[in-house]
Amino acid sequence: MGSKFAVGEEQWRARLGTLRQVVRQELVARQLTSHLPDSRPLEVLDVGCGQGTQALRLARQGHHVTGLDSSPTLLGDLQRVLEDERAEVRARVRTVEHDARDLAALFEPGRFDVVLCHGVLMYFPDPEPLLADLGRLVMRDGILSLLVRNGDGLAMRPGLAGDWTTASQAFDELSYDNRIGVSARADRFDALASSLSDGGMRVRAWYGVRVFTDAAPAEATFPDEQELLALLACEERAGATDPYRRVASLTHVIAEPA
Ligand SMILES: C[S@@+](CC[C@H](N)C(=O)[O-])C[C@H]1O[C@@H](n2cnc3c(N)ncnc32)[C@H](O)[C@@H]1O
Repeated sequence: MGSKFAVGEEQWRARLGTLRQVVRQELVARQLTSHLPDSRPLEVLDVGCGQGTQALRLARQGHHVTGLDSSPTLLGDLQRVLEDERAEVRARVRTVEHDARDLAALFEPGRFDVVLCHGVLMYFPDPEPLLADLGRLVMRDGILSLLVRNGDGLAMRPGLAGDWTTASQAFDELSYDNRIGVSARADRFDALASSLSDGGMRVRAWYGVRVFTDAAPAEATFPDEQELLALLACEERAGATDPYRRVASLTHVIAEPA
């Protein structure tokens, strides 16, 4: 069975340098950094690592990263970036081409300090089995970092675009068509926290990602460095503040073994 994401893969690759993507990756990195366990170096698993933006950041910081993905194309993109890295960074990254549905068979329970799963759960019609597998791989004192489409704020994007038909449906539904052309699924925070709890994990912290820049078009002019830093500071503040984080495009959850 192939990944639902595959039909949007080329669109995803084409948009990686856009403002929306830069905000997403930078915010997630900042929020994650403040929760990394103190011990060094960490053993990290990035499930659905794709082009490996976060995997590379962590490897450059000295951590050992296993990047798992079902896409040979995106893993190839990651490998090409790795070729230009210092040898010691390259040596700290291992890629595994595999379906995330097989996680339980691939790795021993409690094997990783940090497990990432960013932008993947929306392609799983039923999130429960993957959530349970992810939680099982986290060692005591470790963390799970999840990035999901925010089901509590799903009407925001079509509403701000003036698409009232889609907006009115989005209040009651969790399915949506995303910007890379894939029919996907959002998660409501309370339901996600409850599923995590069923799997022996508790939410340590949660954030909104992309409160102000979600509506930016793919071709939006990139701001200069000073303006980008100001924009990121506002996004970071909003992402950690109620009520703004509740209507962000994405929800970033840091969970830990209960
Ligand atoms: C939206 S991209 C996110 C990539 C990366 N995690 C990030 O946040 O930049 C989704 C990734 O999940 C991968 N993916 C989707 N379904 C998968 C599955 N069943 N098994 C493994 N990888 C999957 C895709 O190939 C793609 O690389």
